[in-house]
Amino acid sequence: MASTTRTIGFVGTGEIAEAIILGLRHGGNTQPIVVSPRSAGRSASLAAELADVAVATSNQAVLDESNIVVLSVLPPQVPDVVATLDWSSVDHLHSVVAGLAVADLSSLITDPPPVSRSIPMPPNRWGLGPIPLHPDDPTPRAMLEQIGTVIAVGDESMFDVFTGGSALMGTFFEFAAVSAGWMEKQGLDGDDAAAYVAGLFRSLATQASELNGVELAVQPESCLTPGGLNEQVLRGMTDAGFRDAVRAQLDAILARIRGS
Ligand SMILES: NC(=O)c1ccc[n+]([C@@H]2O[C@H](COP(=O)([O-])OP(=O)(O)OC[C@H]3O[C@@H](n4cnc5c(N)ncnc54)[C@H](OP(=O)(O)O)[C@@H]3O)[C@@H](O)[C@H]2O)c1
Repeated sequence: MASTTRTIGFVGTGEIAEAIILGLRHGGNTQPIVVSPRSAGRSASLAAELADVAVATSNQAVLDESNIVVLSVLPPQVPDVVATLDWSSVDHLHSVVAGLAVADLSSLITDPPPVSRSIPMPPNRWGLGPIPLHPDDPTPRAMLEQIGTVIAVGDESMFDVFTGGSALMGTFFEFAAVSAGWMEKQGLDGDDAAAYVAGLFRSLATQASELNGVELAVQPESCLTPGGLNEQVLRGMTDAGFRDAVRAQLDAILARIRGS
């Protein structure tokens, strides 16, 4: 039988599981947490450094000791991991596996518990960032609200659209890294360049967060000084195919998620 103390279990103790666990503790959460034994170094570190985090002896032991189980393995690993387990004691299965529909995950399990999915991201370790959740359910919501701003998404096809947007993380960091690297190449200290770019992007993201959809759509043009430096770069990037490239990649992500 599952514990009555609302233990959170993790099957898959990788990057995103660690971010969620750190985010929970960062926000003051004290619920017992049990993690699966794979990624032994990371699991052991989390258990050593955080109160009430334990490493289970097996994936089945995670399920047996937890009320809500967060599935955080890689997509190709899911069928083998979930199908061999007995989920009967688990109240809720919450998946962070990218691109895996609720019905498809449920179909891998005999008599599955309620299933939900979300898109946490690494900054949730500091309680920062939006977390799309489908379907809206009080059990995962209570957990996720401790590490970020939950966006309830009723329509799973719209959840796919959020998944597409979340795939821009690497491109964001590449944009920042190329920008800071260029500044360093001109002679600036590398750390100073990184700090400047990060601070600039953080301030611009704050400004963007004040805009509604219509305002954001025109912001790239409305922030420009006619004939100015920003205008020159934006025109050059547009001529180089920047906008079309972003849209094409997002289209490709959506097609991949939807298997079309
Ligand atoms: N990273 C992100 O920013 C992010 C954001 C949103 C969603 N996601 C999703 O989160 C999931 C995990 O991503 P990640 O970046 O955290 O990947 P990751 O760091 O590679 O973590 C995967 C974890 O699963 C473990 N694992 C593999 N086979 C297992 C098994 N049979 N039983 C138990 N654990 C097993 C791995 O252990 P070993 O190391 O021992 O193989 C590792 O700890 C993915 O489905 C991804 O789509 C990730």
